[in-house]
Amino acid sequence: MLDRLRARRHRAAQRYQSRLAEALGGRRIVITGASSGIGRAFALQAAAAGAEAILVARREEQLERVAEEFAKLGGVAHIQAADLSDPYAAGRLAETILREHGPVDVLVNNAGRSIRRPVADTKPEDFGRLVDVNYLGPTALTMSLLPGMLERGAGHVIQISTIGVQTGAPNFSAYVAAKAAADHFARTLRLELGGRGVRVTTIQVPLVRTPMLTPTRIYRAFPAQSLDRAARRIGEAVIRRPVRIAPRWTTLIEVIHAVAPGLLQWVFTVGHEPFHKLMKRRLDRMERRSRDSG
Ligand SMILES: NC(=O)c1ccc[n+]([C@@H]2O[C@H](COP(=O)([O-])OP(=O)(O)OC[C@H]3O[C@@H](n4cnc5c(N)ncnc54)[C@H](OP(=O)(O)O)[C@@H]3O)[C@@H](O)[C@H]2O)c1
Repeated sequence: MLDRLRARRHRAAQRYQSRLAEALGGRRIVITGASSGIGRAFALQAAAAGAEAILVARREEQLERVAEEFAKLGGVAHIQAADLSDPYAAGRLAETILREHGPVDVLVNNAGRSIRRPVADTKPEDFGRLVDVNYLGPTALTMSLLPGMLERGAGHVIQISTIGVQTGAPNFSAYVAAKAAADHFARTLRLELGGRGVRVTTIQVPLVRTPMLTPTRIYRAFPAQSLDRAARRIGEAVIRRPVRIAPRWTTLIEVIHAVAPGLLQWVFTVGHEPFHKLMKRRLDRMERRSRDSG
């Protein structure tokens, strides 16, 4: 039974890789935030599909390591270190990419960061920092690569967002607001460019265990999507070029919010505290078990 399940999974993974290879064949892809987490995991899937990619992040050494792995898996990787919290640096990055590598077919705006902080403790600069990296930088990069895509009548922008934009997320006011701005920009872009060959996909990512979560201990107890699965969502976006990819349960929450916002507010208010207590107990159990076995 287990063997059959493994074989089925293996076949699905092979099918996915060959569809990704087909979608990326002869195309050039830019992946931001490729030095870590979801961006790195997707970059390695793209490498196994034989892609040519430009990997972007601030930490050059990490990027070099990912590029080495990329080459071993059969892809061609170039690295570009850039700080995407600066829209001017993002614009310069686009110029360098176009000059050194040529037109870009797919842009994955994945680089980002979050801050988990109650709204009362959130400082004005927190809002600024998160808007810079999650909205202004990626938007500047998109805007700089867009003219080439429009000229060729082909291109794909993939915006990595969060389910927090759909559901709301207590303690993430600055992060969710910045991601929401990026989502609305993507949505407008999609509507405007509908007939001009450029596609825009937004991916609402649920919790995924990456270095982004490390500072928040309790997240170790929360249910999370695997890194491989999260990366595959980006691959699916490349393959199918849909408007949006989001978990069904968060889309349902969005619908409930549209028709009965008061109900959702009540569920959040009543459920938030007990849910956290439950997760705290789960975390304590997990840590006890790992102490006992270590
Ligand atoms: N993990 C989750 O639960 C989750 C949930 C929803 C959405 N997301 C979104 O998924 C995306 C990837 O996050 P992750 O979880 O994979 O986090 P991660 O492991 O911390 O990776 C973040 C990536 O973004 C890059 N980055 C951060 N600031 C940058 C800057 N100023 N300029 C250029 N690159 C920068 C980082 O590289 P350097 O540090 O080398 O610059 C790194 O490669 C983010 O947009 C995040 O908001 C994550």
